[in-house]
Amino acid sequence: MPGTCVIGLQWGDEAKGKLVDILTEDHEIVVRYQGGANAGHTVVAGGQTWKLSIIPSGILRDGVACVVTGGVVLDPAKVIEEMDGLESRGIRMDGKLRLSDRAHVVFPWHVVEDRLLDGSLSGGGAIGTTGRGIGPCYRDKVGRSLAIRLGDLYRQDFRAKVEHVADFKNRLFANWPSGAATVLDAAAIHAEYAAYAERLRPHVSDTTAYLLDSVEAGKRLLFEGAQGALLDIDHGTFPFVTSSNSSGVGVASGSGVPGRWIDRVIGVVKAYSTRVGGGPLPTEQDNAVGLHLRERGREYGTVTKRPRRCGWFDAVAARYTARLSGVDELAVMLLDVLGGLDELKICSAYEIDGVRTTQFPGQIEDLARAVPVYETLPGWPDDLSTVRDEGALPANARRYVERIAELLGRPVSIISVGPDRAQTIFRDPETTRRPPWQRPQPATA
Ligand code: IMP
Repeated sequence: MPGTCVIGLQWGDEAKGKLVDILTEDHEIVVRYQGGANAGHTVVAGGQTWKLSIIPSGILRDGVACVVTGGVVLDPAKVIEEMDGLESRGIRMDGKLRLSDRAHVVFPWHVVEDRLLDGSLSGGGAIGTTGRGIGPCYRDKVGRSLAIRLGDLYRQDFRAKVEHVADFKNRLFANWPSGAATVLDAAAIHAEYAAYAERLRPHVSDTTAYLLDSVEAGKRLLFEGAQGALLDIDHGTFPFVTSSNSSGVGVASGSGVPGRWIDRVIGVVKAYSTRVGGGPLPTEQDNAVGLHLRERGREYGTVTKRPRRCGWFDAVAARYTARLSGVDELAVMLLDVLGGLDELKICSAYEIDGVRTTQFPGQIEDLARAVPVYETLPGWPDDLSTVRDEGALPANARRYVERIAELLGRPVSIISVGPDRAQTIFRDPETTRRPPWQRPQPATA
C-alpha cells in the first residue's frame, strides 16, 4: 500500500512541513490536496530556511514529484512567486511540479471579498482570515456559476468568463453596505492572468489521472495536509475554520485518491496549543506561560506574521481529531519549547455547565463555555535541542509525551526538539520508517 498522510491535529502550524520534508525521503510523490496560500510551511535544511505556501516542500528533493491537486484553491501569482524564489536558489521545477487543471483559481475579487466579509460573521465578530481570498474562492467553487478553474485559463472563452464574473462582482461591490470602493478592471485582470497561465502552462495537467496511475503502479505517495483538523470546514470549530476539509477526511476528496490507498496516517501535534485568528481556545494562557510559549516557540504566523495565541496541550481536542482523521501514530513537535517551565498542564477533560466530558463539542457556543480540567506534570529545565535519541530525554519529558499518547490512544513515533531535520527522534520500531541516517547500518564484511 503506497500512501502516507500527515495531518495536523490542532489549529494548524504544527510544524508539519518539517515532517513532510523528512518523510519525503521515502516517497516518490508529495501531494498537496486542500487549502491555498493561507498555509505556510517552514523547512530548515542544511542551514538554509525555506518558506513555502502552496508548493509542497518535496520540491527541495531531486527525483520527487510534487502535485497540487484540484482540492486546492490556487493563486497563480503566489505560485509563480514561490517558483521564482525556489529557482533563484537553484531548485529546478521542470518535470517535478504538477498543478491540477481542476484547481479553482483565486482572483482579485476573492481577496476583496475576504476583506469585506471577514468582520461580518452573523452573530458578530471576525474569523480573522489570512486575507488570501480562500473562503470566497471556495464559495464560488461550490456556487459554480462564478467559478474559474485553472484549466479554463487555456480556453477560448477565458476572457468572456472573466468579464462575466467581474461584471457580477462589480455590481455586488457597488451595492455593498459599507461601500467597497473597488472597481474591477476585467481587461487588466484577464491580461494579468493570461500571462500567469503561459508561465504555468508546462505544469498544468490532469493530476487526478496521474495520481491514480501512480498508486496503481505502486508508487509511494505522501499526502501533505495544510492547516489543522480543528479548522476543518465540516468537522472543526465552525465558523472559526478554514474553507476546506483540513482533517484526515479531506485527503480522498481533495486529491481524488481513495482512502484505501493510504496505509499510514501520522497525526501531528505541537506539545502545546496555538491558534491564529478568532474562535475559542479553551486552554489559552494569556499570561507568562503564554508568553514563554510564544517567544520560545517563535509563534508568529508564517503567512500573516500575527502573534499566535498560545496555551496548554488540549488532549480533548486532539483525541477528537486523531479519531476523526484515522490517525495511526503521533508526532509530537516543538517539545523543546516547554523546557524551563516548572510545571506543565495537559487538559484531559472539559467541564461544560458543571458537567465533565471528554467529548469535543460540536457547537462553538459549548466549546466557548468549556472549562479545562487539567492534569499537572512536572517540567524539565533542560535544553532538549541537542537531544538525538529517546534515552537522552529527561524522564519528565518522556513522561509528558507518554501521557499525550495515553490520552490520545495512539503511540508517539516521532518527537521533534528543534526546527532542523536532525533535531528529530524516531521511536518507531520499524526501521524502514526511520530516516536513512537513523537506520542501522548493514554490517560490513
Ligand atoms: P482562511 O483560511 O484565510 O479563510 O482563514 C480562516 C481561519 O483559518 C483563520 O483563523 C486563519 O487564521 C486560520 N488559518 C488558515 N490557514 C492557516 C494556517 O496555515 N495555519 C493556522 N491557521 C490558519
